[in-house]
Amino acid sequence: MKAVRFHEVGGPEVLRYEDVDQPAPGAGEVRVRVAASAFNAADAGMRGGFLPIPVVLPHVPGYDVSGTVDALGEGVGGAVGEGGLQVGDAVIGFLPMERDGGAAEYVTAPADALVLAPTKIPLPDAAGLPSVALTAWQALFDLGELTAGQRVMVNGAGGVVGTYAVALAKRAGVHVVATASPRSSAAVRAAGADEVVDHTTTDVLSAVDEQVDVLLNLAPIDPDRFTALVALVRDGGKVVSTTAFMATPGDEARGVSAATVFVVPNRDRLTELVSLVDSGDLQVEATRRIPLTELPALHTEADAGRIAGKVVVLP
Ligand SMILES: NC(=O)c1ccc[n+]([C@@H]2O[C@H](COP(=O)([O-])OP(=O)(O)OC[C@H]3O[C@@H](n4cnc5c(N)ncnc54)[C@H](OP(=O)(O)O)[C@@H]3O)[C@@H](O)[C@H]2O)c1
Repeated sequence: MKAVRFHEVGGPEVLRYEDVDQPAPGAGEVRVRVAASAFNAADAGMRGGFLPIPVVLPHVPGYDVSGTVDALGEGVGGAVGEGGLQVGDAVIGFLPMERDGGAAEYVTAPADALVLAPTKIPLPDAAGLPSVALTAWQALFDLGELTAGQRVMVNGAGGVVGTYAVALAKRAGVHVVATASPRSSAAVRAAGADEVVDHTTTDVLSAVDEQVDVLLNLAPIDPDRFTALVALVRDGGKVVSTTAFMATPGDEARGVSAATVFVVPNRDRLTELVSLVDSGDLQVEATRRIPLTELPALHTEADAGRIAGKVVVLP
């Protein structure tokens, strides 16, 4: 089969589109015929050797996948509706990051990393959901502990994690204040934000007139700026950030805690997120679909600057 792999860490040129043996599923695993894998910034981080994730080389990137179950390993199966998987099931998953990913025609995965795919959106686009939507969920509810009636400020709401975060918070009855530039403000409003502040023209600190319970930062802002934004959080509130490359500030004197998200797989949550997609409560947007042969070029683009929206990669 064809796959993109890197045999050593380094720049995008280490990625090779090559022939690889088709993998066989081990006990507790299934093989998936890949519909798409999604590109995440962490894929470029692992390829570059910047992330402390113990991949075995050569490594296939693409830990967010969608596809169709093609073969079952020992001990996999079971009744439909009881979490069992069958050949032919359309599935999505956030695969363990150290394993080979879905930038290939086939990938093997632990059966418990996969859930049935949403039925209301194209299967390749569904690869864009798993780790990103889980990141938003874990930030808001596991670390932020937001509940109905509370207020959240989502800084950087116009990105992929941000629009999921706005939609999930709104659906949970949380009042959402969001920052977005003109290019993304319509999407942030459509996701359900109650207030949208244009961070390119407005001083966010003076634009927010009531403090929030949780500040969720998703934007690559200056650390001093991030510390200043903590003033938006009420005493005893929380600062949560996905931007793990810088420390998350809190304010001990006011009891404002700080937490950084490191997204982890969660099958039950992912199943819930799939239901929200199928009920129309959560929109999944693949902004670009590219062939697998173009994945090295996408990494080059990512190294040069931000990739807007979610790109899915089709073998
Ligand atoms: N730790 C984890 O487990 C984990 C998991 C997933 C993602 N992440 C990280 O989380 C971050 C967000 O991910 P993403 O995919 O949503 O990224 P993204 O699509 O690049 O979105 C970031 C957003 O921040 C906005 N922004 C840029 N500069 C800003 C500023 N000065 N003030 C306010 N907003 C600003 C951007 O512009 P506009 O306002 O113009 O739209 C963009 O919408 C990334 O750093 C990603 O690597 C971490």
